[in-house]
Amino acid sequence: MDVNISAGIDWVGHVDWGVRDFHGYRTDAGSTYNAYLIRDEKTALIDTVKGIYSSGLLARVAQLTDLSAIRYVICNHAEPDHSGGLSAVMTACRNAELVCDARCRDALQMHYDTNGWKWRIVSDGESISLGKRSMSFLETPMVHWPESMFTYVPEEKLLFSMDAFGQHYASSCRFDDEEPLDKVMREAKKYYANIVMLYGRQIAKVLERAAGLEIKIIAPSHGVIWRKNPDVILSAYRDWVVCRPGAKVLVIYDTMWKSTELMAEAIVDGVADRGVEVRLFNVRNTHITTLAEEVLDCAALAVGSPTLNMTLMPQVAAALTYLKGLKPAGKCGITFGSYGWAKGGVKAIEEYMASMNVEMVGESIEAQFVPTEDVLEKCRNAGRMLADRALEMVDNL
Ligand code: FEO
Repeated sequence: MDVNISAGIDWVGHVDWGVRDFHGYRTDAGSTYNAYLIRDEKTALIDTVKGIYSSGLLARVAQLTDLSAIRYVICNHAEPDHSGGLSAVMTACRNAELVCDARCRDALQMHYDTNGWKWRIVSDGESISLGKRSMSFLETPMVHWPESMFTYVPEEKLLFSMDAFGQHYASSCRFDDEEPLDKVMREAKKYYANIVMLYGRQIAKVLERAAGLEIKIIAPSHGVIWRKNPDVILSAYRDWVVCRPGAKVLVIYDTMWKSTELMAEAIVDGVADRGVEVRLFNVRNTHITTLAEEVLDCAALAVGSPTLNMTLMPQVAAALTYLKGLKPAGKCGITFGSYGWAKGGVKAIEEYMASMNVEMVGESIEAQFVPTEDVLEKCRNAGRMLADRALEMVDNL
């Protein structure tokens, strides 16, 4: 496996082929925890790995340098998938100072026994020379936690971007040009939607700052390193930070006795009448990770549920709770569903849609027990209206 980024700069992280869950995000493609070693007149280790993989990290570092030669350990982000190895590293690397910002120090002190650690607290814009090369630090709060920062090596035009531009993608290759770009971009999109969509505004600021840097290589904390296509991922982020809508309608539903499903399918037919892309997801067999990824670049969202116990079905509630937390911006939508002798499901969906600032394009559609042909035609019309509005939104970009 080629791990060399540039002369004296190597990947020393861990490939986690088997991980399938990242606090609720289904990581079907596994992940990596990327750490990097810079050997210069002084040696620096950028980030670590999950705590259980720290011995492997130390072994990889020890193949390249004596552990006592490490002068700086940089912590760009305190979340344990990157800081979990710090206790072992700071014990093994006795001459190292831990370099981070003040918020990161506070977070690390709440996570670990940091007694005996030597700290070097840096501020935004500060630099440390390693000899021929240097490290500049850019504070990037909320990308992905408040203490997050980037480390930039100007002499190499190399940005260590922590979670930003990452992918949960395990591979035997470390670089974007060694993997199919469409696969990597799919995982990068899924990662953005599920981990950082909520922080689009903060990431937009980071992109503004990144535009002022010369960037040849982006080395994130997860997945492959962008050495061939940094412009591709930067350009995709510029779309994702504004949830730029495509001409795509999502229909998300649950069903009890197929009535709400018939309504969902009628909405799909209406969208298809206009030749607009439409995707149908039953929440019972679709993971929330996929829904977030699909919502990121859709223009319109139809959400349906039968009424169960005077409210919506629990898996629709779970999906909407997750999406509401991620705050997808600029969507239009409609709600629908069946009921028996008492209503409540559709009203509960309307409240979620309002809390997500979804622009409603028509009245909610409800059917008692089984949808009549009139109700199904209303659903087809709703699909056509969603498609038309989606096209308008795209045209207005
Ligand atoms: Fe990969 Fe926010 O940690």
